[in-house]
Amino acid sequence: MKFNQSNIKKAKKYLDNNKCVAVPTETVYGLAANAQSSIAVKKIFNLKKRPKSNPLIVHYSSLPELKKDCLLNSNFFKLYKKFCPGPITFILELKKNSKISKHVTNNGKTLAIRFPKHKVLKKLLDTLNYPLAAPSANISTKLSAVQKADVKEEFGDKVAYILDGGKSKIGIESTIVNLINAPKILRLGGLEIKKIEKILNQKIKIDINPYKKVAPGQLRLHYSPGIPVRINVTKPKKNEAYVLLKKRKIKSQHYYYLSKKNKLNEAAKNLYSCLRKIKNKGYKSIAIEKIPSIGIGKSINDRLKRASKF
Ligand code: TXA
Ligand code: MG
Repeated sequence: MKFNQSNIKKAKKYLDNNKCVAVPTETVYGLAANAQSSIAVKKIFNLKKRPKSNPLIVHYSSLPELKKDCLLNSNFFKLYKKFCPGPITFILELKKNSKISKHVTNNGKTLAIRFPKHKVLKKLLDTLNYPLAAPSANISTKLSAVQKADVKEEFGDKVAYILDGGKSKIGIESTIVNLINAPKILRLGGLEIKKIEKILNQKIKIDINPYKKVAPGQLRLHYSPGIPVRINVTKPKKNEAYVLLKKRKIKSQHYYYLSKKNKLNEAAKNLYSCLRKIKNKGYKSIAIEKIPSIGIGKSINDRLKRASKF
Protein backbone atom coordinates (compact mmCIF):
# COMPACT_ATOMS: atom_id res chain seq x y z
CA MET A 1 0.00 0.00 0.00
CA LYS A 2 1.41 3.37 -1.05
CA PHE A 3 1.26 6.01 1.59
CA ASN A 4 -0.13 9.36 0.98
CA GLN A 5 1.62 12.24 2.72
CA SER A 6 -1.50 14.36 3.00
CA ASN A 7 -3.37 11.56 4.82
CA ILE A 8 -0.52 11.26 7.29
CA LYS A 9 -0.67 15.01 7.86
CA LYS A 10 -4.41 14.82 8.43
CA ALA A 11 -4.01 11.99 10.96
CA LYS A 12 -1.29 13.98 12.77
CA LYS A 13 -3.54 17.01 13.00
CA TYR A 14 -6.32 15.04 14.68
CA LEU A 15 -3.90 13.30 17.03
CA ASP A 16 -2.19 16.59 17.98
CA ASN A 17 -5.66 17.82 18.93
CA ASN A 18 -6.26 14.91 21.31
CA LYS A 19 -8.60 13.06 18.95
CA CYS A 20 -8.62 9.31 18.28
CA VAL A 21 -7.53 8.09 14.86
CA ALA A 22 -7.76 4.51 13.56
CA VAL A 23 -4.42 3.35 12.19
CA PRO A 24 -3.31 0.34 10.14
CA THR A 25 -0.83 -2.14 11.58
CA GLU A 26 0.47 -5.40 10.13
CA THR A 27 -1.53 -7.34 12.77
CA VAL A 28 -4.93 -5.57 13.06
CA TYR A 29 -6.07 -1.94 12.92
CA GLY A 30 -5.56 0.10 16.09
CA LEU A 31 -7.60 2.90 17.67
CA ALA A 32 -4.81 5.36 18.40
CA ALA A 33 -4.33 8.44 20.56
CA ASN A 34 -1.45 10.43 22.08
CA ALA A 35 -0.17 8.13 24.87
CA GLN A 36 1.01 11.14 26.88
CA SER A 37 -2.40 12.83 26.94
CA SER A 38 -4.94 11.67 29.53
CA ILE A 39 -7.73 13.48 27.67
CA ALA A 40 -6.93 11.60 24.47
CA VAL A 41 -6.39 8.22 26.13
CA LYS A 42 -9.71 8.40 28.00
CA LYS A 43 -11.45 8.81 24.63
CA ILE A 44 -10.10 5.42 23.52
CA PHE A 45 -11.70 3.69 26.51
CA ASN A 46 -15.01 5.45 25.93
CA LEU A 47 -15.16 4.70 22.22
CA LYS A 48 -14.28 1.04 22.70
CA LYS A 49 -16.49 0.63 25.80
CA ARG A 50 -13.41 -0.88 27.35
CA PRO A 51 -13.05 -1.33 31.12
CA LYS A 52 -10.56 1.21 32.46
CA SER A 53 -8.71 -1.59 34.23
CA ASN A 54 -7.61 -3.12 30.92
CA PRO A 55 -4.29 -1.45 29.99
CA LEU A 56 -3.30 -0.38 26.46
CA ILE A 57 -0.32 -1.13 24.23
CA VAL A 58 1.90 1.85 23.35
CA HIS A 59 3.40 1.97 19.83
CA TYR A 60 6.90 3.36 19.21
CA SER A 61 9.02 3.99 16.15
CA SER A 62 12.42 4.38 17.81
CA LEU A 63 14.44 2.88 20.64
CA PRO A 64 15.61 6.24 22.09
CA GLU A 65 11.98 7.22 22.48
CA LEU A 66 11.18 3.97 24.31
CA LYS A 67 14.19 4.41 26.61
CA LYS A 68 12.54 7.52 28.06
CA ASP A 69 9.61 5.42 29.26
CA CYS A 70 10.80 1.91 30.12
CA LEU A 71 13.65 -0.03 31.72
CA LEU A 72 15.15 -2.33 29.10
CA ASN A 73 16.85 -5.64 29.85
CA SER A 74 19.01 -8.10 27.91
CA ASN A 75 16.09 -10.36 26.89
CA PHE A 76 14.40 -7.32 25.45
CA PHE A 77 17.43 -6.38 23.35
CA LYS A 78 17.78 -9.92 21.98
CA LEU A 79 14.15 -10.05 20.87
CA TYR A 80 14.13 -6.45 19.68
CA LYS A 81 17.12 -7.08 17.41
CA LYS A 82 15.52 -10.11 15.84
CA PHE A 83 11.81 -9.27 15.62
CA CYS A 84 11.29 -5.50 15.65
CA PRO A 85 9.52 -3.97 13.98
CA GLY A 86 7.01 -6.82 13.98
CA PRO A 87 4.07 -8.62 15.64
CA ILE A 88 5.48 -8.85 19.18
CA THR A 89 4.51 -6.84 22.28
CA PHE A 90 6.74 -6.59 25.35
CA ILE A 91 5.68 -5.98 28.93
CA LEU A 92 8.38 -3.83 30.54
CA GLU A 93 8.90 -1.86 33.72
CA LEU A 94 7.66 1.70 33.46
CA LYS A 95 10.13 4.44 34.48
CA LYS A 96 8.99 6.76 37.27
CA ASN A 97 9.61 9.90 35.19
CA SER A 98 7.88 8.57 32.08
CA LYS A 99 5.41 10.94 30.42
CA ILE A 100 2.94 8.17 29.53
CA SER A 101 -0.56 8.97 30.86
CA LYS A 102 -1.45 6.92 33.94
CA HIS A 103 -4.73 6.02 32.25
CA VAL A 104 -2.83 3.89 29.71
CA THR A 105 -1.71 1.49 32.45
CA ASN A 106 -4.55 2.07 34.94
CA ASN A 107 -1.87 3.36 37.33
CA GLY A 108 0.13 0.15 36.91
CA LYS A 109 3.93 -0.01 37.01
CA THR A 110 4.36 -2.00 33.81
CA LEU A 111 3.85 -0.97 30.19
CA ALA A 112 2.98 -3.00 27.09
CA ILE A 113 4.96 -1.69 24.12
CA ARG A 114 5.41 -2.59 20.50
CA PHE A 115 7.20 -1.49 17.31
CA PRO A 116 4.73 -1.93 14.45
CA LYS A 117 6.01 -2.79 10.99
CA HIS A 118 3.30 -1.25 8.79
CA LYS A 119 4.90 1.42 6.56
CA VAL A 120 2.03 3.90 6.84
CA LEU A 121 1.94 3.75 10.63
CA LYS A 122 5.74 3.98 10.86
CA LYS A 123 5.64 7.08 8.73
CA LEU A 124 2.97 8.58 10.98
CA LEU A 125 4.89 7.73 14.17
CA ASP A 126 8.00 9.38 12.71
CA THR A 127 6.13 12.65 12.30
CA LEU A 128 4.74 12.69 15.87
CA ASN A 129 6.43 13.96 19.05
CA TYR A 130 4.82 11.25 21.20
CA PRO A 131 4.12 7.49 21.01
CA LEU A 132 0.63 6.18 20.28
CA ALA A 133 -1.53 4.20 22.68
CA ALA A 134 -3.63 1.87 20.53
CA PRO A 135 -5.79 -1.12 21.36
CA SER A 136 -7.39 -3.06 18.52
CA ALA A 137 -9.96 -0.91 16.69
CA ASN A 138 -13.13 -2.74 17.70
CA ILE A 139 -15.83 -2.47 20.35
CA SER A 140 -14.67 -4.39 23.45
CA THR A 141 -15.13 -8.22 23.14
CA LYS A 142 -16.03 -7.99 19.43
CA LEU A 143 -14.14 -8.96 16.28
CA SER A 144 -10.97 -7.03 15.54
CA ALA A 145 -10.79 -4.88 12.41
CA VAL A 146 -8.34 -5.72 9.61
CA GLN A 147 -9.34 -3.04 7.08
CA LYS A 148 -10.85 0.44 6.89
CA ALA A 149 -14.41 -0.82 6.25
CA ASP A 150 -14.29 -2.97 9.42
CA VAL A 151 -13.37 0.04 11.56
CA LYS A 152 -16.23 1.99 9.99
CA GLU A 153 -18.58 -0.88 10.82
CA GLU A 154 -17.43 -0.92 14.46
CA PHE A 155 -17.52 2.82 15.18
CA GLY A 156 -19.54 4.52 12.43
CA ASP A 157 -18.67 8.22 12.40
CA LYS A 158 -17.49 8.27 16.00
CA VAL A 159 -13.82 7.97 15.05
CA ALA A 160 -12.49 11.29 13.75
CA TYR A 161 -10.35 9.76 11.03
CA ILE A 162 -9.33 6.34 9.65
CA LEU A 163 -5.87 6.21 8.13
CA ASP A 164 -6.12 3.67 5.32
CA GLY A 165 -3.30 1.17 4.96
CA GLY A 166 -5.01 -1.65 3.08
CA LYS A 167 -5.76 -5.04 4.61
CA SER A 168 -3.54 -6.08 7.54
CA LYS A 169 -1.02 -8.67 6.35
CA ILE A 170 -0.96 -10.88 9.45
CA GLY A 171 -4.59 -10.51 10.51
CA ILE A 172 -4.17 -11.61 14.14
CA GLU A 173 -2.95 -9.53 17.11
CA SER A 174 0.67 -9.44 18.28
CA THR A 175 2.17 -12.09 20.56
CA ILE A 176 2.59 -10.66 24.08
CA VAL A 177 5.65 -11.55 26.13
CA ASN A 178 6.16 -10.39 29.69
CA LEU A 179 9.87 -9.64 30.24
CA ILE A 180 9.71 -8.28 33.78
CA ASN A 181 11.03 -11.48 35.38
CA ALA A 182 11.44 -14.87 33.67
CA PRO A 183 9.89 -14.43 30.19
CA LYS A 184 6.25 -15.45 29.96
CA ILE A 185 3.80 -15.49 27.06
CA LEU A 186 0.56 -13.66 27.92
CA ARG A 187 -1.13 -13.88 24.52
CA LEU A 188 -0.59 -16.09 21.50
CA GLY A 189 -0.40 -14.05 18.33
CA GLY A 190 1.26 -13.22 15.05
CA LEU A 191 4.75 -14.36 16.07
CA GLU A 192 5.32 -18.06 16.79
CA ILE A 193 6.50 -18.86 20.30
CA LYS A 194 9.09 -21.31 18.98
CA LYS A 195 10.91 -18.44 17.28
CA ILE A 196 10.99 -16.48 20.54
CA GLU A 197 12.26 -19.53 22.43
CA LYS A 198 15.02 -20.03 19.91
CA ILE A 199 16.34 -16.49 20.34
CA LEU A 200 16.17 -16.59 24.15
CA ASN A 201 17.53 -20.12 24.12
CA GLN A 202 14.97 -21.36 26.64
CA LYS A 203 11.52 -22.85 26.97
CA ILE A 204 9.03 -20.09 27.80
CA LYS A 205 6.07 -20.48 30.12
CA ILE A 206 2.70 -19.78 28.55
CA ASP A 207 0.33 -18.00 30.89
CA ILE A 208 -2.89 -17.42 29.01
CA ASN A 209 -5.30 -18.66 31.66
CA PRO A 210 -8.43 -16.69 30.85
CA TYR A 211 -9.56 -16.64 34.50
CA LYS A 212 -6.46 -14.87 35.74
CA LYS A 213 -6.41 -11.11 35.56
CA VAL A 214 -2.88 -10.65 34.19
CA ALA A 215 -4.10 -9.52 30.81
CA PRO A 216 -7.76 -8.62 31.22
CA GLY A 217 -8.18 -8.63 27.44
CA GLN A 218 -7.61 -12.34 27.70
CA LEU A 219 -10.87 -12.98 29.53
CA ARG A 220 -13.34 -15.38 27.99
CA LEU A 221 -15.66 -14.25 25.19
CA HIS A 222 -13.52 -12.09 23.04
CA TYR A 223 -13.07 -11.76 19.28
CA SER A 224 -16.80 -12.48 19.00
CA PRO A 225 -18.78 -11.99 15.77
CA GLY A 226 -21.92 -11.58 17.93
CA ILE A 227 -23.45 -14.95 16.94
CA PRO A 228 -22.66 -18.43 18.32
CA VAL A 229 -19.47 -20.04 17.02
CA ARG A 230 -18.94 -23.83 17.17
CA ILE A 231 -15.41 -25.17 16.74
CA ASN A 232 -13.94 -28.51 15.55
CA VAL A 233 -17.12 -29.26 13.60
CA THR A 234 -17.21 -32.10 11.08
CA LYS A 235 -20.90 -31.81 10.23
CA PRO A 236 -22.51 -28.36 10.08
CA LYS A 237 -26.19 -27.90 10.86
CA LYS A 238 -28.67 -26.93 8.18
CA ASN A 239 -28.37 -23.24 7.21
CA GLU A 240 -25.29 -22.80 9.35
CA ALA A 241 -22.25 -21.10 7.81
CA TYR A 242 -19.38 -23.60 7.62
CA VAL A 243 -15.84 -22.22 7.72
CA LEU A 244 -13.17 -24.44 6.21
CA LEU A 245 -9.44 -24.33 5.81
CA LYS A 246 -9.24 -26.88 3.05
CA LYS A 247 -11.10 -26.69 -0.24
CA ARG A 248 -13.90 -29.30 -0.49
CA LYS A 249 -15.19 -31.01 -3.57
CA ILE A 250 -18.78 -30.55 -2.48
CA LYS A 251 -20.05 -27.10 -3.39
CA SER A 252 -22.34 -25.32 -0.96
CA GLN A 253 -23.35 -21.68 -0.68
CA HIS A 254 -22.83 -22.04 3.08
CA TYR A 255 -19.15 -22.98 2.81
CA TYR A 256 -16.55 -20.27 3.46
CA TYR A 257 -12.83 -20.83 2.92
CA LEU A 258 -10.08 -19.31 5.03
CA SER A 259 -7.39 -20.16 2.54
CA LYS A 260 -7.12 -20.89 -1.17
CA LYS A 261 -3.96 -22.89 -0.72
CA ASN A 262 -4.61 -24.59 2.60
CA LYS A 263 -2.06 -22.29 4.27
CA LEU A 264 -2.34 -21.26 7.93
CA ASN A 265 -0.80 -17.82 7.39
CA GLU A 266 -3.42 -17.06 4.79
CA ALA A 267 -6.12 -18.39 7.13
CA ALA A 268 -4.97 -16.05 9.92
CA LYS A 269 -5.06 -13.12 7.53
CA ASN A 270 -8.64 -13.93 6.49
CA LEU A 271 -10.03 -15.12 9.83
CA TYR A 272 -11.68 -11.97 11.22
CA SER A 273 -12.92 -10.69 7.85
CA CYS A 274 -14.44 -14.09 7.07
CA LEU A 275 -16.36 -14.20 10.39
CA ARG A 276 -17.44 -10.59 9.89
CA LYS A 277 -18.72 -11.34 6.40
CA ILE A 278 -20.74 -14.31 7.65
CA LYS A 279 -22.31 -12.26 10.46
CA ASN A 280 -23.24 -9.54 7.96
CA LYS A 281 -24.94 -12.05 5.70
CA GLY A 282 -27.41 -12.68 8.51
CA TYR A 283 -26.42 -16.21 9.54
CA LYS A 284 -27.58 -17.25 13.01
CA SER A 285 -24.52 -19.36 13.80
CA ILE A 286 -21.08 -20.35 12.54
CA ALA A 287 -19.45 -23.78 12.49
CA ILE A 288 -15.71 -24.13 11.93
CA GLU A 289 -13.74 -27.21 10.99
CA LYS A 290 -10.76 -28.26 13.10
CA ILE A 291 -7.73 -26.08 12.40
CA PRO A 292 -4.31 -27.73 12.94
CA SER A 293 -2.57 -26.38 16.06
CA ILE A 294 0.73 -25.80 14.32
CA GLY A 295 2.57 -22.45 14.21
CA ILE A 296 0.10 -19.59 13.80
CA GLY A 297 -2.67 -22.24 13.83
CA LYS A 298 -2.29 -22.16 17.64
CA SER A 299 -3.13 -18.45 17.66
CA ILE A 300 -6.09 -19.01 15.34
CA ASN A 301 -7.42 -21.69 17.70
CA ASP A 302 -6.92 -19.42 20.71
CA ARG A 303 -9.12 -16.76 19.07
CA LEU A 304 -11.74 -19.29 17.94
CA LYS A 305 -11.96 -20.85 21.38
CA ARG A 306 -12.66 -17.45 22.93
CA ALA A 307 -15.11 -16.50 20.17
CA SER A 308 -17.00 -19.73 20.86
CA LYS A 309 -17.75 -18.78 24.50
CA PHE A 310 -20.85 -16.95 23.34
O1 TXA B 1 -1.45 -6.47 17.45
C1 TXA B 1 -1.76 -5.83 18.46
O2 TXA B 1 -1.19 -6.00 19.55
C2 TXA B 1 -2.86 -4.78 18.31
C3 TXA B 1 -2.34 -3.66 17.41
C4 TXA B 1 -3.34 -2.53 17.25
O3 TXA B 1 -1.12 -3.20 17.88
N1 TXA B 1 -3.26 -4.27 19.59
C5 TXA B 1 -3.99 -4.98 20.48
O4 TXA B 1 -4.35 -4.28 21.62
O5 TXA B 1 -4.29 -6.14 20.31
P1 TXA B 1 -5.50 -4.76 22.62
O6 TXA B 1 -5.69 -3.63 23.55
O7 TXA B 1 -6.69 -5.20 21.87
O8 TXA B 1 -4.85 -5.94 23.40
C6 TXA B 1 -3.80 -5.66 24.29
C7 TXA B 1 -3.69 -6.71 25.35
C8 TXA B 1 -4.86 -6.74 26.29
O9 TXA B 1 -5.21 -8.09 26.50
C9 TXA B 1 -4.28 -6.13 27.57
O10 TXA B 1 -4.90 -6.66 28.71
C10 TXA B 1 -2.83 -6.54 27.49
O11 TXA B 1 -2.52 -6.42 26.11
N2 TXA B 1 -1.95 -5.61 28.24
C11 TXA B 1 -1.75 -4.30 28.03
N3 TXA B 1 -0.90 -3.78 28.93
C12 TXA B 1 -0.54 -4.79 29.74
C13 TXA B 1 0.32 -4.91 30.89
N4 TXA B 1 0.96 -3.86 31.36
N5 TXA B 1 0.44 -6.13 31.46
C14 TXA B 1 -0.22 -7.22 30.97
N6 TXA B 1 -1.04 -7.17 29.89
C15 TXA B 1 -1.21 -5.98 29.29
MG1 MG C 1 -8.30 -6.34 21.29
